[in-house]
Amino acid sequence: MTESKNGAVDGSTTGAGAPAPSDRNSLTAGPNGPILLHDVHFLEQMAHFNREKVPERQPHAKGAGAFGVLEITSDVSAYTKAALFQQGCKTEMLARFSTVAGEAGSPDTWRDVRGFSLKFYTEEGNYDLVGNNTPIFFVRDPMKFPHFIRSQKRLPDSGLRNNHMQWDFWTNNPESAHQVAYLMGNRGLPKTWRHMNGYGSHTYMWVNAAGDKFWVKYHFHTRQGLQDFSNDQAKDMAGADADYHRRDLFEAIAKGEHPSWTLSVQVMPYEEAKAYRFNPFDLTKTWSHKDYPLIEVGTMTLNRNPENFFAEIEQAAFSPGNTVPGIGLSPDKMLLGRAFAYADAQRNRIGTNFHQLPVNKPKVPVNTYMFDGQMTYEHSGNQAVYAPNSQDRSWADTTGKAEDGWEMDGDMVRSAYTLHAGDDDFGQPGTLVREVYNDEQRSQLVETVAGSLLGGVRSPVLERAFEYWKSIDPEVGRRIEEKVRAGGAPEPAAGMSEA
Ligand code: HEM
Repeated sequence: MTESKNGAVDGSTTGAGAPAPSDRNSLTAGPNGPILLHDVHFLEQMAHFNREKVPERQPHAKGAGAFGVLEITSDVSAYTKAALFQQGCKTEMLARFSTVAGEAGSPDTWRDVRGFSLKFYTEEGNYDLVGNNTPIFFVRDPMKFPHFIRSQKRLPDSGLRNNHMQWDFWTNNPESAHQVAYLMGNRGLPKTWRHMNGYGSHTYMWVNAAGDKFWVKYHFHTRQGLQDFSNDQAKDMAGADADYHRRDLFEAIAKGEHPSWTLSVQVMPYEEAKAYRFNPFDLTKTWSHKDYPLIEVGTMTLNRNPENFFAEIEQAAFSPGNTVPGIGLSPDKMLLGRAFAYADAQRNRIGTNFHQLPVNKPKVPVNTYMFDGQMTYEHSGNQAVYAPNSQDRSWADTTGKAEDGWEMDGDMVRSAYTLHAGDDDFGQPGTLVREVYNDEQRSQLVETVAGSLLGGVRSPVLERAFEYWKSIDPEVGRRIEEKVRAGGAPEPAAGMSEA
């Protein structure tokens, strides 16, 4: 083994860096074997191969991503003091796009919501915004989330996907209507990740230098233009190239076609939340753009592919809990549930010290009292391992009101949100279907929903689905029912009891 001029090794090494004997022949007693137990290089190769994968994400397993930059072009310092959002600031970042329900090898073009995860390596620590390509979600209480995901995945007995189970969940949870109306429309089949929008979806808090608080919603509008696939195009592509979206992004960036998005925010003054006509923290609702117009903030551009998919994308760990000064969470129960879920999933999926991996590591110095654990790489030397301490290792000591906090309003309860005057489950999806979709898109929606219902949805879920759509829009509901009835009896479902 020799080292070439550029530092590359000629030959290979063991994990311990010593010259490896052979990557082609194991060590045997005579040319025809058996293999000798002390062929340490062979054993190392086999043993490491057995541990080559980590569990896939549950959910959002299938995805890919790229690195880039967020550049702030407007002055929004009146709303937030966060360093990354100050005019002129450029922040390195990572984006990962994904489907929700499919497994790691599933087709990119199956109809689904798409994940839109962003990690900004800011000078005040990492800020993660983990959103979707739709501004809303299926449920508004995190207790329902595992039930929701399981209903979209696979049957317990056959391991097959199942439309009946999906519609059973949706129609038993009418707050899903808005997101389902998006999902069954054109946003459910984006042509590529470059041609879709991204949203923070939740309401977040921004805090300015004077301590004034605002509620915000993030919008990332694609500068490539919104483009979708038809049902047939998506179905064909699922067979022809299951990795179509992953390939499209990688190849575009490799060719120098760097996709970009315009970042805008809607800003609601803190006090207005209480009296707004619907609950502004309800994740199944959007805010009217007339009430809260978009304010342009900057541009996000993806310009660098990963060099190693596993190290930089599979091991990437995004969490809505990662905020920085000037940005806070909100009373959205879903967001608060998520603040726990992600890092916990990542400790299990990647390991206790996932935050030390280069893709997850902040660019700023870290002084954490999290200590030791599997695969510790960064450490605090022989400094005090406890706080407070009598050595000169500093610790955090804020007391008093949380800068990014809000007032609580009563006893501990298990309940739905307090109703605001305009709260209902079907108003906004009705507007989407009637006023945002054009005639052609509405007809496609009817086709898509009827096709899905004809794919094995049985009574009484089928009748509930007709009612659900009639509550969204009587005419669209009628057309869906008519189409399904004309389509004949649903195919018998594979697996799961007929209950
Ligand atoms: C209470 C509700 C939710 C819970 C408990 C939850 C939990 C999770 C978990 C455990 C993961 C896998 C994380 C990992 O292994 O790295 C994940 C991934 C993800 N979730 Fe959620 N989720 C919730 C709601 C949402 C919502 C509302 C959105 C979007 C608005 C969302 C967007 C995403 C995205 C984009 C990913 C993929 C992250 C990546 O690219 O690595 N989730 N979720």
